[in-house]
Amino acid sequence: MQKLFKFILITMHVVAFTAIHARAQDEYQLPNYSSRDGFVPVVGKNGMVSVRETIAAKIGAEILEKGGNAVDAAAAIGFALAVTYPQAGNIGGGGFMVVHLADKNETVAIDYREMSAGKARHDLYVVDDKVDQKLAKYSRQSSGVPGTVAGMALAIEKYGTMSLQDVLEPAYRLAKDGFEVYTQLEMSLARSKERLGADPAAAKVFYKADGSNYRTGEILKQEDLAWSLKQIMDNGTDAFYKGEIAERIAADMAANDGLITMDDMAAYKVYEREPVMGTYKGYTIATMPPPSSGGMHMIQMMNMLENDDLKSKGHNSAATLHLYIESMRQAYADRSLYAGDPSFFDIPVDKIIDKEYAAEIRARIPMDRARDSSEVAPTKNLAYESPETTHFSVMDKYGNAVSNTYTLNFGFGNGIMAANTGILLNNELDDFDHEPYKPDANGNISGKANAQEPHKRPRSSMTPTIVFKDDKPFLITGSPGGGTIINTVFQTVMNVLEFDMNVAAASSKPRINHQWMPDMTTIESGVSQDTLNILKDMGHKFNYGSRTLGSTNSIVYRDGYFYGAHDPRSMNAATIGIN
Ligand code: GLY
Repeated sequence: MQKLFKFILITMHVVAFTAIHARAQDEYQLPNYSSRDGFVPVVGKNGMVSVRETIAAKIGAEILEKGGNAVDAAAAIGFALAVTYPQAGNIGGGGFMVVHLADKNETVAIDYREMSAGKARHDLYVVDDKVDQKLAKYSRQSSGVPGTVAGMALAIEKYGTMSLQDVLEPAYRLAKDGFEVYTQLEMSLARSKERLGADPAAAKVFYKADGSNYRTGEILKQEDLAWSLKQIMDNGTDAFYKGEIAERIAADMAANDGLITMDDMAAYKVYEREPVMGTYKGYTIATMPPPSSGGMHMIQMMNMLENDDLKSKGHNSAATLHLYIESMRQAYADRSLYAGDPSFFDIPVDKIIDKEYAAEIRARIPMDRARDSSEVAPTKNLAYESPETTHFSVMDKYGNAVSNTYTLNFGFGNGIMAANTGILLNNELDDFDHEPYKPDANGNISGKANAQEPHKRPRSSMTPTIVFKDDKPFLITGSPGGGTIINTVFQTVMNVLEFDMNVAAASSKPRINHQWMPDMTTIESGVSQDTLNILKDMGHKFNYGSRTLGSTNSIVYRDGYFYGAHDPRSMNAATIGIN
């Protein structure tokens, strides 16, 4: 009897334990990323930020923790980086933001790219029949009307829950009270001293009174920038585009052969555009349309390779890298002719992202040899594009996502600070083709799409991207890197979608870059010598291990968890999960 009683009791315990355990498993699942990839992502349950600089990342994370949405956090990060990451964070530059809004199930692309002045013309930098590089890169004439303030304000006013004033507040405090200089900023300022030190306003901010450098841990204050941020807090975007800040920028321009006037500032327009959309093996991709060339050419390359079983060829195998290089060669050849400002030039986006066109150009790739770039589309060389830009990704617990890339073009822009504003000026107009109507060595006249004209936006490569799975944001990513951005984002996306890597591994694997002209592939270190030997035998020209490519900030959402990673190629970046 006693034995029977004991048996019943044990059986009841086992049944109860099994039921409770099963319920617990229904209710939650442990984080699940593939650790076989060798890299481990940051994990969060209620949102994630991934940013190039830690102080700004913490500001974004705090906003998410308090219940703000991804757009609130993104705008606050954007303004904070203008203070803490003056290499590329800015209010004197511009960029692009792709936003997914969960409640409307809508995705928008905000174009806050800089715009040229009313006095701009296609041969602005041509002096004595030659492009004057100093004028194109390091003068006030290289600056477009900045778009960042208008872009962040539109995002926050239309899609945020906080006020413009509230998202500016942390940046204002950081500029006014200062922040501790971190190692990478110390290094950047020391390296850029010749340029920044030559501009009186910038020199006063970024170096001490005796001319010496700020060291790690010392406090950097930016009083004029605090004044500008406060103007915007008190008077909105009008302060920047029509009020006292506009007056100071226009006065600085007028006194130094710059072109931007009060009228140009007031004429600035931010655009909401339809994202350029693509699909890849069941995933949907929403990314930036023109004037960025990034989105359409990334989708073009993915379309070209969708029917190749790259996974069985192997990640970074010679066969896969050969296909990557040949797809890049084609995409960048097309880019040289067709990318520019859509308000001025009819860009054949539909053709570029068309799957039939992709199949046609894929069929032209021989599997056994490298092509010569002149076989693909002979025309002129592309101009140098600076790799200094910055990207951040944000996701919140409500299902909203923001992918933002913005820039001053070069690190610290043209190195000039508009007097009495604390605002570093961009040199984005260097992204125009400077001699568009002159025949090149092959006799081709090209570049109309990207010729400078009044109030036009220069072509960009920025590729802020959101990938969807089952209609929900799955991967948020983007990178700096000038012309290399498209290839970095393409490989990061392929690492996740095609090769099933977790986001940390996808961000860390060696990358390659080919831009059609010059006919040369840059290959990061970490690719095997055997692979390099095969590529060389196929006729590929490459330089190996000479530099790093890009610096991604990415987030993946799957099965109730956010997984984030910043690029191991960056110092002082941060990815913070909200729990
Ligand atoms: N200035 C770099 C880019 O817009 O892509």
